[in-house]
Amino acid sequence: MKARKRVITSGGKAKRSPTVRKIKPAWVGPVARTERPRSTAARPEAATPAAPRADPVAGLRAPDAAADLASGGAAATLAATEPAARPGAGTVDLAVDLGRGLVLENPVLVASGTFGYGVEYGEVVDVQRIGAICCKGTTLRPRVGNQPPRVTETPAGMLNSIGLQNPGVDAVIERYAAIWAGWQVPVIVNVAGESIEDYVGVVRKLDGVPGVAGVELNISCPNVGKGGLQFAIDRDAASAVTRAVRAATDLPLIVKLSPNVSDVRPIARAIADAGADALSAVNTLSGMALRPDRSGPLLGNVYGGLSGPAIKPVALRIVYEVAQVVDIPIIAIGGVAGIDDVLDYLAAGAVAVQVGTAVFADPVLPVRLVDELRAVCAARGLDSYGPLVGTALPRRPVPPSAKGVEYRP
Ligand SMILES: Cc1cc2nc3c(=O)[nH]c(=O)nc-3n(C[C@H](O)[C@H](O)[C@H](O)COP(=O)(O)O)c2cc1C
Repeated sequence: MKARKRVITSGGKAKRSPTVRKIKPAWVGPVARTERPRSTAARPEAATPAAPRADPVAGLRAPDAAADLASGGAAATLAATEPAARPGAGTVDLAVDLGRGLVLENPVLVASGTFGYGVEYGEVVDVQRIGAICCKGTTLRPRVGNQPPRVTETPAGMLNSIGLQNPGVDAVIERYAAIWAGWQVPVIVNVAGESIEDYVGVVRKLDGVPGVAGVELNISCPNVGKGGLQFAIDRDAASAVTRAVRAATDLPLIVKLSPNVSDVRPIARAIADAGADALSAVNTLSGMALRPDRSGPLLGNVYGGLSGPAIKPVALRIVYEVAQVVDIPIIAIGGVAGIDDVLDYLAAGAVAVQVGTAVFADPVLPVRLVDELRAVCAARGLDSYGPLVGTALPRRPVPPSAKGVEYRP
C-alpha cells in the first residue's frame, strides 16, 4: 500500500504533506484522555479529576484472561505462535495516534541511531511493516563525531559515544527524503543541536519536506549557551527549546527525555506544557568503561551512553512516573528485546515502544514484535491493544512526591 498523504493546515493555509498512512482516529485519544490517571495536583489547570481508569481486564473475553493479563505469562507462549493461525489475529487494530496527524499503523518503532536512515536495512527486513523509523540524529551542519573507540560491549548492553556523526540536515534531506516519501512507513527525523537556534534551524529545513513525518528532539546535548549543561536535565532549557521548535513547525513533535536526572517529572511536564505532541523515554544512561590494562577510559570521549537490557528497569520506572503526570502519548525506549518488554512498557503507561540496541543483533525483531503483539491481543479477545495500556499504574491518581524519585529508600 502506498503512503497516503494528508495535508495539515495552519491558519487555513495548506502547510505540508506529512507521510501518514492512516487518518482514522486511533484508540489512544479517547483512552488516553479519559481513562489514564493523571495528577490533578501537578496540573492546577486540570480542574476535573481524572475519570476512574477502566478495569484492565474489561475487554477480555476468555474466563482465565484476567489471570493471564496479570501474570503476563502467556506472552512468551503466544510469541512463538504464528499469528495468522490464531482466530481474530487479522482483525486486531494496532494503530496509534501520536498527535498532530501522526497515526502509525502499529506501536513498534525503531530508535534513533540504531537503524541508520532506514535504507540500510532494506535488504534484511521489511521496513514498511515497522510502526515508524526514527532516523539517526541530524544536526544543522555535518558532524564527524567523537574520537574512536566509540562503542564497547557491557554485560547487558552496550556503551556508545558516536557523537552524533551525521552529514547535516541538508544532505539528509537531499539523500533520503525522496526515498522516504515513497515509503508507507513514516520516518521521524531525530534532531540534535547545541543551541536553540540549531534546533530551530534544523526543523525549519525539515518543515514541509515530503517524506518527513515528524521530528524527535534529542535534547541530551550540551547547551553551549548554558556552558555545556544538557537541555534535557534542566527544566527551563528543555521547555525553551521545545517552545521554540513548536513555534517553528507544525510537524508532529516528540521530545526525548534523558534518564540522567533525579526527577524527570517536572521536566516532562514542562515539555508537555511547551507544546510537545508526545514524549519518548528514554535516551541512554551516562556511563564509562576502562581500558583492559586500566590505564584510562576506554572510549575516546571518556563517557558513553549505556543502552540495552541493562537500562530497562530505569526506563520502566521513568515511563511509569511520567505517565502519571502528563496526558500526551509516551513512547518507551530502553532495552526492548522481546514481547514481554513491550507489554511491560504498555502496562506502565506507554502507548508505543522503540527498539534500539537489540536491532543490531536481530534486525527483524521490530517486525516480529508487531506480529507478537497482535497475537497477544487476538488470544485475549481484544480488537486493539488499548486495554493493555496503563494496567500497572496506580488505580487512583496520586500527587507526585515532593521528595523526588520514589524508589529511593
Ligand atoms: C549506537 C547508538 C547511537 C544512538 N544515537 C542516537 C541519536 O543519534 N539520537 C538519539 O536521540 N538517540 C540515540 N541513541 C539512543 C537510542 O535511540 C535509545 O534511546 C537508547 O539506545 C535506548 O534504547 P535501547 O536500550 O533499546 O538501545 C543511540 C543509541 C545507540 C546504541
